[in-house]
Amino acid sequence: MNKSEARDRIQKLKAKIKDLNYKYFVLDQSEVEESVRDSLKRELIDLEQQFPEFISPDSPTQRVGSVLSGKFEKIKHNTPKKSLADVFIAEEIMEWKDRVVKLSSEDLEFVCELKLDGLNITIQYENGVFLRALTRGNGISGENVTHSVKTINSIPLMLNKSVDLEISGEVFLPKKYFAELNKTQAAQGLPLYANPRNTAAGSIRQLDPSVAASRKLDMFFYNIDKSNMPEHVNSQCGLLEELQELGLKVEKHYKICKSIEEVVQFCEYWTEHRKDLPYDIDGVVVKVNDLRQQKRMGYTAKAPRYAIAYKFPAQQVSSQILEVKFQVGRTGAITPVANMTPTLVDGSTVARATLHNEDEINRKDIRIGDSVIIQKAGDIIPEVVEVLTDMRTGKEEKVKFPKNCPVCDHEISRREGESAYYCNNKICPAINKESISHFVSRKGFDIDGLGQKVVEQLIEEGLIEDPADLFHLSKESFLQLNLFKEKRSENLIKSIEKAKKIALERFLFALGIRYLGEQGSYDFAKFLIHKLSKSDFNIQDLISITGNLDIEEIVNLDGIGEKMANTLYTWFNSESNIKYLQKLSDAGVILLIDSLKLAGNLAGKSFVFTGTLSNMTRSQAKNFIKQNSGKVSSSISKETDYVVAGNSPGSKLKKAQALGIQILDEEAFKKLL
Ligand code: IVH
Repeated sequence: MNKSEARDRIQKLKAKIKDLNYKYFVLDQSEVEESVRDSLKRELIDLEQQFPEFISPDSPTQRVGSVLSGKFEKIKHNTPKKSLADVFIAEEIMEWKDRVVKLSSEDLEFVCELKLDGLNITIQYENGVFLRALTRGNGISGENVTHSVKTINSIPLMLNKSVDLEISGEVFLPKKYFAELNKTQAAQGLPLYANPRNTAAGSIRQLDPSVAASRKLDMFFYNIDKSNMPEHVNSQCGLLEELQELGLKVEKHYKICKSIEEVVQFCEYWTEHRKDLPYDIDGVVVKVNDLRQQKRMGYTAKAPRYAIAYKFPAQQVSSQILEVKFQVGRTGAITPVANMTPTLVDGSTVARATLHNEDEINRKDIRIGDSVIIQKAGDIIPEVVEVLTDMRTGKEEKVKFPKNCPVCDHEISRREGESAYYCNNKICPAINKESISHFVSRKGFDIDGLGQKVVEQLIEEGLIEDPADLFHLSKESFLQLNLFKEKRSENLIKSIEKAKKIALERFLFALGIRYLGEQGSYDFAKFLIHKLSKSDFNIQDLISITGNLDIEEIVNLDGIGEKMANTLYTWFNSESNIKYLQKLSDAGVILLIDSLKLAGNLAGKSFVFTGTLSNMTRSQAKNFIKQNSGKVSSSISKETDYVVAGNSPGSKLKKAQALGIQILDEEAFKKLL
């Protein structure tokens, strides 16, 4: 990015963030998720670092805390209220640890606290009596919200000790009461509240205290102001205990960690389990436990060095569309895909997002150069949620849809009832390449070492035309390819030979029949073996049974709808497909059905994995379980029946032991199967 582009982008970012800040802090409205505002701010920080000449005093990066609304009396805090530096991945926690270790000559201990997603409030007590409550405001002065905060029942008006103290914590609205409140709103036809945080903030920042009084707010405390810290308190952990002795509530899941690995585990645990808490949290605050060491480490301009906020993976973040490419899939569907500025979404870096189809692009008015909000759809493929239209510069370009297939230039058309365009060329190289890649993929023939690049080369060299040709390849064929030597060629031939024996359901999946996914293939395979009374099943049997399919019969199968039933009927009655099946049979492909016959012996059983297995991959193990009607879950609960522990198991093993759940090593797991 050149200087003038950077200046323009910084302007746009500043304006957008200021607007979002105003809505959030003054009006208690969330136009976008907080994580989107965060990522815009991150981009601004990065740009200002690259082009420091454009940092202006009014930049949102130069401010601690929020805007004051002017509705309430402003009061100075005893000491300025700083914010925390945010980190987003485990590596950054490690880097922080390296920094604090350098600042200290002694061993360090950490305290992890849950980062409550509420409203930061400071309360001043005089002689143990509630004097006043302030918002954080701009960090120097806060707003006097005593009238509202005093209505929160769990906050004592008198402490257990007659002391002068300034303490801070988080006011929040428990999820249950938030849901009840919205139910009432809905019943009265009133607009719904966006989230518990904004509702809590909105209730506190009302001139009329009866609003807060009616909202069942609560408060957890986590800090005592350093200016009047009781003398006997010398650690963060001791501070939390002292707060409780004074009669104040603290969030009880905090933990002392002796190592940074324990800290990371704590963060990982709560990333998964935050949903089980009765209130919202948005991360974990990690603090150096010893207050003396904290003091020594001190503060940067904005935040303490001795603490950081680990923010949970953001589901929605901002990014920018750099260009749009068109991909031809296995079915011939043409999908627009956006290349984006790389951004961290939900824990991994994303540089591409699907734009689905032309209708979707038009509906969302997506243009090249746009700043957009992206998220992972179904947690896998990122997609564009919406365009931040007020960040446009006027240079954005409309996406031009191709008139012909971007790969083979053949005509394309839209099918009835569908938004996608399809390439109509039966021998389109892109479709062929994708079909072969699908055929050999992990859930299909699972041929080790045969990735997309190798498939591409094999086609280019004219060594294969369809998947069945793979089984006629020789070591010499591979030796013609780039980067293939004796050993690699031999290994690949062995993998191909081994893959010839394949479970029926995987074989069906590998055929790449439209709409027939993993589950559908499994259901259809079960149906097929019940049609046959003999104990084995070969491709000839498949050809003869599917040649006489009764659509009614398959429509009624679990997991197979009308659309899929019709497609199956058509596919298996096409002459070229029958020839293709025959070719696979001639190539020596053998169908296995034993696991299907056994299926069901793990019905209702729930498994959790930890550590790595030596003789199978985790996804193979998961497949076995699913094929046997068992369930696999990522976290341990009371419902877990077995924990399968491989090499170097994680914290799940300890938890399983604590809960008395049966633990299987790899050997025992195999026996069970
Ligand atoms: S300690 C010097 N501990 O997170 C700042 N903050 O991102 C000391 N928060 O302003 C803050 N839970 O509103 C601390 N256990 C916790 C917290 C917590 C939530 C909030 C707080 C703070 C913000 C910083």
